[in-house]
Amino acid sequence: MSNKYYITTPIYYVNDKPHIGHAYTSVATDFIARFMSLKGYDVRFQTGTDEHGLKIQKAAEAKKIEPIELCNQNSKIFRDLTVSLNLSNNDFIRTTEERHIDGASYLWKRLYERNQIYLGEYTGWYSISDETFYNEKDLVKQNDGSFKTVTGGPVEWITEKSYFFKLSEWSNKLLDLYSSNPNFISPASKRNEVIKFVESGLNDLSVSRTSFKWGIKTPTNESHIMYVWLDALTCYTNGINYLNENENAMKEYWNNVVHIVGKDILRHHAVYWPAFLLAAELDLPQKIFAHGWWTNEGNKISKSLGNVIDPIEIINNYGLDQFRYFLLREVPFGNDGDFSKNALINRINSDLVNDLGNLCQRSLSMIEKRLDSTIPQITNKGNEELLLDKSCEELLMKGSNLVNEFKIHDYIRLVWEYIGKVNKYFNDNKPWELEKNDNDKFLNVLAVTVDQIKNIAIFIHPIMPDVSIKILQIMGISETKLLFENMKTINLHGNKLSRVNHLFNRVQS
Ligand code: MSP
Repeated sequence: MSNKYYITTPIYYVNDKPHIGHAYTSVATDFIARFMSLKGYDVRFQTGTDEHGLKIQKAAEAKKIEPIELCNQNSKIFRDLTVSLNLSNNDFIRTTEERHIDGASYLWKRLYERNQIYLGEYTGWYSISDETFYNEKDLVKQNDGSFKTVTGGPVEWITEKSYFFKLSEWSNKLLDLYSSNPNFISPASKRNEVIKFVESGLNDLSVSRTSFKWGIKTPTNESHIMYVWLDALTCYTNGINYLNENENAMKEYWNNVVHIVGKDILRHHAVYWPAFLLAAELDLPQKIFAHGWWTNEGNKISKSLGNVIDPIEIINNYGLDQFRYFLLREVPFGNDGDFSKNALINRINSDLVNDLGNLCQRSLSMIEKRLDSTIPQITNKGNEELLLDKSCEELLMKGSNLVNEFKIHDYIRLVWEYIGKVNKYFNDNKPWELEKNDNDKFLNVLAVTVDQIKNIAIFIHPIMPDVSIKILQIMGISETKLLFENMKTINLHGNKLSRVNHLFNRVQS
């Protein structure tokens, strides 16, 4: 069985700067990528930027610059964000790159050759902000008689020559796919919405535009450019060179693919994308997971309300791993969530400073001060110690099952239960008293505690990679050993601790 695992974020529009929503999708995807690496998978993680379409063209016009200039500027900001968020991505694809344009054109040709595309005229509603065609029944009528999308975005009525993809012919095949492969779309509530949408009947999809120029010319008629979603979706296959005739090793990643997306773009990924691939006689991804949306202190996040949350500002004020922890811990993955400074501060002070930080600080600095920084040997495993080992084993098993189901926040909850047990062990055994009357036990309790902290450091790696590495480095463990299966065999005895500093600072509210 291949151990390849390919996971993607959506590619981000470059009309504007990144906000918390982009950071969230990326951090959650990074969590899963890192977790699968710890399990021993050969992981490929792709992110990137979506650079064509009317929305980008208009944003460039407003700045009086060429679209490609805007793309270069803003794509760089998104690329820099991958570093600021400490993402483990192997690739960052831009839709203006040659390799992407070639792949998108290849998919178009395959669809065209299979008679899946025909010329017609589109008359109907279009939303520039989400680059999506709408049926009137899916829009919300305003008091003045105009229409808006469900998220409140404006739509315009357009009529233009366009190629259509025969989406309507794929309804049954798609419904078969959803029923024969119940895990194709998650969570279940979102899956049901998609099924209802497809059951209500699919129209053929307009897949080219002629009223503006910023896009990939269709290879069969240069006066049309590809609809930006057909163009963009192929980024997933283009990043691994799947869309061409050449054999190459990267293609193997297409056997095990997960797309992480926000709920607003599930339809494009769970309906249009598999339909394109089926029609082109290409293989499908294994899974689409749709996460929820963040609000800011209870309010919808929007530019007009002026409450857009800048991830860099949060990172600068509170720290990267604190931000990552909060995003992943606060809200069940798949649900909507609310960002509030108080909630962030509470999480930092209680879960990070009190639970994890104190445990590390107290035990490690005791070794530093009393034992000249040398980690003692585990000499005895009684009931209490064996129970801790058992908790670790259970966490490995249950944790893996939870992450397989994308229940990231439940995984973190279990890790914190485990941290609680190690804290209790340390407190109940009172090493500061043992030091005076039972030196053997004193050394054993410290050795066991540090050994469990080493496990904790590996468990938290996908959540807080920096803190995880910092703890392991203090213990003299190099990053190359980062695999769950190495947890048991890493022997700390005799390692010299490097300087122990506070991992987290308490935040005043
Ligand atoms: N370019 C398309 C995706 C093409 S993929 C082939 C796009 N880009 S986007 O920049 O608008 O959005 C990217 C991601 O950010 C989506 O997954 C979206 O759900 C997410 N978010 C945008 N605002 C959000 C929140 N307020 N909360 C959580 N995520 C949200 O769509």
